[in-house]
Amino acid sequence: MTSQSSPPRVLVQGTFPDAFIAALAARFDLVRHDPAVPPARAQGWDKSIRGVVSWARLTVTREMMDCLPGLEIVAGFGVGYDRFDLQAAKEKGIVVTNTPDVLNDDVADIAMGLMIAASRRIAALDRFVRAGRWAAGEAPAMARKVTGKRLGIAGLGRIGRAIARRAQAFDMKIAYTGPRAYADVPYAYVSDLVALARESDFLMIACRADPATRHMVNAKVLAALGAKGILVNIARGSVVDEAALVRALKDGTLGGAGLDVFADEPRAPAELFALDNVVLTPHVASSTVETRTAMGDLVIANLESHFAGRGPLTPVVAR
Ligand code: 8YV
Repeated sequence: MTSQSSPPRVLVQGTFPDAFIAALAARFDLVRHDPAVPPARAQGWDKSIRGVVSWARLTVTREMMDCLPGLEIVAGFGVGYDRFDLQAAKEKGIVVTNTPDVLNDDVADIAMGLMIAASRRIAALDRFVRAGRWAAGEAPAMARKVTGKRLGIAGLGRIGRAIARRAQAFDMKIAYTGPRAYADVPYAYVSDLVALARESDFLMIACRADPATRHMVNAKVLAALGAKGILVNIARGSVVDEAALVRALKDGTLGGAGLDVFADEPRAPAELFALDNVVLTPHVASSTVETRTAMGDLVIANLESHFAGRGPLTPVVAR
């Protein structure tokens, strides 16, 4: 068999749905990689490996690329690519792709869900019922309204816009911040994050994680959001100074939080577990059968298009 007719060899790291692995295996020669094993000690890595498929939460480092001399493409399963060394990929002429757009709706749905759950204390009230406190005649504390409130969005990209569209149906007053104002949206632009937090009842973090946004949500921003304010983060844990967030929630200078992402996943700060004004989910914003299927399809489409010489469909780094 000539090398042209054999399926491209692709390294896979991450925890993926079985159907996705089966679809990959039907098209490519798969090599599974346990990310706990350092690249220098990995077995079977040689220049025959032309592609990497990686869960967006795992790193694809320069060292990994160095150990894969035949690597042409890193296909990320996720929209975020903060864990991939893009600079190394650029230098080595390696294509990097992500899965934009297909997950916008699910991530925006979870953002709205966390906002409502934190404000209306849904998770705490669920615990209240299950613990028999309602049946025992206890009255739950009142929550805070969502409809008509002020929503600040940090990062009006594809996901930020999907959140804003949903918030419009809740009659919210929407403002946003980011590197630039957009002429095509009806929402108010506020250049400074502290000013946006001061003018918001809810602050949604929907920006990209990069060195410029690292710890962007700091103690000053949280103080500006205030004792009645609620922070929602569906972006990346690195965008928030988590120690400052825990302090603000514990001392009551921040009203509440809805968090899907954390600084040190899969660990969420244990100090938050006892707080009823905090709702925690384990980085599941895109985790529906429909969306994970669409993400997998897009990863495969990127690989197939690249290997067929047509170029990737959704490149972050192109050749
Ligand atoms: C995924 C994500 O859950 O798309 C992203 O960037 O964070 C999530 O959709 C996760 O990264 C799976 O790879």
